Amino acid sequence: MPGREVAGRPVMITGAASGIGRALARRLSGLGSPVAIADVDASGLKETEGSLSGRVLTRVLDVRDAADVLRFADEVREWLPAPLGAVFNNAGVAVTSSVLDAVPEDDQWLWDINFHGVVNGTRAFLPILVGQGSGFVVNTSSVFGLVGMPFQSAYCAAKFAVRGFTDSLRQELRGTGVRAVTVHPGGITTNIARNARIRRDPEGLGRTKEQMAAQFEAITMTSPDRAAAIIHKGLSRGRSRILVGPDAYLFDALARITPTHYYEVISRVQSRLRTQQKADR
Ligand SMILES: NC(=O)c1ccc[n+]([C@@H]2O[C@H](COP(=O)([O-])OP(=O)(O)OC[C@H]3O[C@@H](n4cnc5c(N)ncnc54)[C@H](O)[C@@H]3O)[C@@H](O)[C@H]2O)c1
Repeated sequence: MPGREVAGRPVMITGAASGIGRALARRLSGLGSPVAIADVDASGLKETEGSLSGRVLTRVLDVRDAADVLRFADEVREWLPAPLGAVFNNAGVAVTSSVLDAVPEDDQWLWDINFHGVVNGTRAFLPILVGQGSGFVVNTSSVFGLVGMPFQSAYCAAKFAVRGFTDSLRQELRGTGVRAVTVHPGGITTNIARNARIRRDPEGLGRTKEQMAAQFEAITMTSPDRAAAIIHKGLSRGRSRILVGPDAYLFDALARITPTHYYEVISRVQSRLRTQQKADR
């Protein structure tokens, strides 16, 4: 079985127009990987492409469209200069709302991207990996796939689903040479909160979406470049489950130690961080 090192081997990354996906593309391309990058955001994708020096296949793609994801997998198969090292099903979006005020079409939009998009990518690319008997399927969950958070019911449901799907796949892949990996990022400073669907401040504080995004960004602990480095290192070390950032380790520990009361601790930490933010301003 080929080694665990992905750098230098071709990779496919969805959600590569921004944030963690873009950082993964830059890191792996910089280390010699040919990269197939996909995103629904054509201009962001062009920008990512322009920042890469190695071989690139760029494809505007909506991960919700299973038939188009299959077509893209065929294109990647044709383009591949060597066995595929990894498939990063990374594209994702956010919705903030209480369950009481949930707008069904917003929740559906999120599930279609964050869960079905991951399933579409896995199903389309798995035959390539299994056929060659090597490589990683790397599916992005979240720390919100480890704990439930208020006003994040759709997001948590989708990220728990990614975790369950990928854990099941991991067992099926025993003996194939292909590994399924779940990534659980903590807060990463990306565009996710700015691109979120938020109809109103669910805490009733009257904050605008911009203000809520700024608050989220202020308490994130990890840059996209650092996240990409941690994910890469986790793959090289053969991890099946990669926690990204110090906050991810805290969430993971709390979910185990106090599975029904973790939110009391998390909310205290969050309000301390917010108070610190105000004092620093
Ligand atoms: N930023 C965080 O704090 C954080 C924490 C945990 C998990 N995550 C997860 O990490 C992944 C990457 O998010 P990010 O933080 O880099 O956010 P981001 O907004 O910077 O990047 C997400 C990318 O996904 C793309 N995308 C959205 N819908 C798509 C679709 N239908 N088809 C194809 N591409 C689509 C966007 O255009 C964007 O380029 C997501 O799955 C997200 O849920 C992020």
